[in-house]
Amino acid sequence: MQIDSKVVSVEQKDNIALITLNNAPVNALSKAVRQGVMTAMQAALSNDGVEAIVITSALPLFSAGADISEFSGGNLEPMLPEVLNFIESASKPVVAALNGAAFGGGLELALACHYRVSVESNKVGLPEVHLGILPGAGGTQRLPRLSDAKTALDMIVSGAPTPVTKLSGVFDKLTASVETLAADAQQVALNAIAQGPRPVSEINLSLDDDTNAVFNAYSEQVTQKSKGFFAPLKCIEAVKAAYTMPFNDGLAEEARLFMQCMETPQARAQQHFFFAERAANHVPGLDKNAQARSISKVAIIGAGTMGGGIAMNFANAGIPVVMLELKQEALDKGLALIRRNYENSAKKGKLTSEQVEQRMSLLTGVTDYDALSDVDLVIEAVFEKMSVKKEVFSALDRVCKPGAILATNTSTLDINEIAEATSRPQDVIGLHFFSPANVMKLLEIVRADKTSDEVIKTAMKLAKTIRKVGVLVGVCFGFVGNRMIEVYGREANRLMLEGATPEQVDRVIMQLGMPMGPFTMGDMAGLDIGYFVRQSRKAFIEHDPSYCVVADELVEAGRVGLKAGKGVYLYEAGSRKPIADPEVMEIAARKAKELGIEQREISDQEILERCIYPLINEGADILREGIAGRASDIDVIYVYGYGFPVFRGGPMQYADEVGLKNVLARMRHYQSSLGEYGKQWFAPSELLIELADQNKTFSSLNN
Ligand code: 3HC
Ligand code: NAI
Repeated sequence: MQIDSKVVSVEQKDNIALITLNNAPVNALSKAVRQGVMTAMQAALSNDGVEAIVITSALPLFSAGADISEFSGGNLEPMLPEVLNFIESASKPVVAALNGAAFGGGLELALACHYRVSVESNKVGLPEVHLGILPGAGGTQRLPRLSDAKTALDMIVSGAPTPVTKLSGVFDKLTASVETLAADAQQVALNAIAQGPRPVSEINLSLDDDTNAVFNAYSEQVTQKSKGFFAPLKCIEAVKAAYTMPFNDGLAEEARLFMQCMETPQARAQQHFFFAERAANHVPGLDKNAQARSISKVAIIGAGTMGGGIAMNFANAGIPVVMLELKQEALDKGLALIRRNYENSAKKGKLTSEQVEQRMSLLTGVTDYDALSDVDLVIEAVFEKMSVKKEVFSALDRVCKPGAILATNTSTLDINEIAEATSRPQDVIGLHFFSPANVMKLLEIVRADKTSDEVIKTAMKLAKTIRKVGVLVGVCFGFVGNRMIEVYGREANRLMLEGATPEQVDRVIMQLGMPMGPFTMGDMAGLDIGYFVRQSRKAFIEHDPSYCVVADELVEAGRVGLKAGKGVYLYEAGSRKPIADPEVMEIAARKAKELGIEQREISDQEILERCIYPLINEGADILREGIAGRASDIDVIYVYGYGFPVFRGGPMQYADEVGLKNVLARMRHYQSSLGEYGKQWFAPSELLIELADQNKTFSSLNN
């Protein structure tokens, strides 16, 4: 085996061999790295001048673990467990020197070494569970041997990074900084020469009653909390094997459970999502010379529901915000609400009272546009009415400095038209936040016809600064997320007319893994929101007399959802628990009769297909029209904006898993079996037909 010296180097310093990993950007343990480590280890072991070995990294990170892009297959020898077992069985002591964070296989590499030194500010973790798998290179067997069952379960089941300072028993020495690491690692190596190799596998564990109780409590908790996920329970099984089996059998059990997870659609979905989220960050085709602008002061127009939440994102990131309302009263109300939100976080222990004051001190309220002359970015969040938006944008055009970015948070209006109200459409962009804007991670970044590449780059960078996941989309009604959700809501409503109860529809959708069904979601958001959108879209829906007629009648009767104590469901005072209301099905039956729709029993399968497949079909049209750049961008929008289960990878990945031929066949089935309604709404997208006919997937579009 040859060492690829670009990714692994080995040098001798006195009687110590230093193996350095250098596989940018994150030291993923690719085949070349594994081969390099194996060869370097063999060379060090056969060199009589070497008495100890130190493994470290030349990059800021020690290692991000196995190379996830290799999971799709190929010749992967030597496999990571083989390399790590080889290290552990070495006849000379091996020391891991962690200059930076270590995740997954990276931490497992350190655990397979005989001694461990780390910079004390480092975090380490076993995040495999987020990829639908479990640590498969000995992590489930070695970590509990060095720490304890609870620590190992906490790390492996949650996947969360843990400060090394919290891991007693795992590290032999914590060092102050990267600068002091080399000397401390050398010292540990010199001591190790006297003590000899110290394989973790030689530590014996047994399952006593207390430890067994820890496992039982964990299983119960995970069954409740991680509903629908396959890997977390398998993680527990694997860690338990460390207590019930000899080391080598435990490793074999870990390997068996690892493969069981790896072969699930969930693992494929979660690994797809890992790359989807990162791909969304890269916008192809932008001018390489365009530079993101610096944003050090922001203005928000409108201190209502959205304006307040948006402002909090910037204050949280330490960026000063000027909030503008036309009336002092509205301004005071908006600022008071923000303060209340922060104070509630403080009551829950999430913020200190100093932090509350520090964040509030970054917010200034004004009623005069002249105060906006020095801001770098304005986000408009006023009423959803084109004439109001245009007035705001022409005022901004008048007062803002050249180069200021003018953004709108509109959810439905044409951003090209808004941009034309200014003399600088190249600086106008959509920043579509989701409610509650201080909580939801998604930010749809809407590129209008004339938006410049500089402005797009600034918005993508800004999303990271305020800890959002930014996804670039194009202009159309509802952009990507809401355009697709409209189809889903329409179908849920139609199913109610045809005889399905709201409880049945919600149950089926929750079984898919969504946090709530469409009717519970509608009640929570307020049924009046959809009602007003429908009123403004009459031309689009008038050919379907059945379009959301039950919801319309409920709103007209004042049943606007949770906030009114009644919507599709009833709510007891102070409770968010939906209670089924037979009156709603009576309205549905009456409306169905008026429309000549025969009510019938509807299967769960039909409900699932009719809510989700048209949504996917709309996604296909969105891709065909170029409104979204990649199918995986739509998946990111749906997971972060709408709670689509990450273990399904998003709607487009779900479609790939179901098979596009199957989705197409069912769309055609409903197109022909649902009469005029089917003809109107179930016409398959040309892109769906094309891909299904060629046996392709949505994800193949970007390969
Ligand atoms: N394999 C392959 N590529 C990886 C990778 C990995 N383990 N980790 C990160 N990358 C890639 C990313 O895709 C990204 O590529 P891009 O520039 O082309 O988009 C690049 O490295 C930089 O990654 P991030 O943008 O995520 O960089 P950050 O600095 O924001 O985050 C990180 C760094 C915290 C290490 C984050 O990348 C991360 O969480 N990585 C995954 C860690 C992980 O899940 N490890 C377990 C792997 S599975 C395993 O080890 C199995 C074993 O038990 C057998
Ligand atoms: P809101 O009604 O809660 O707040 C609007 C605020 O704008 C009010 O405080 C009002 O006084 C102020 N305002 C109105 N005209 C103004 C003007 N000319 N100058 C300055 N201030 C003015 O509305 P909300 O829900 O915050 O929505 C704002 C925008 O965000 C809309 O475009 C909406 O479509 C969009 N949006 C709303 C979401 C939601 O869930 N509420 C989600 C995503 C986007």
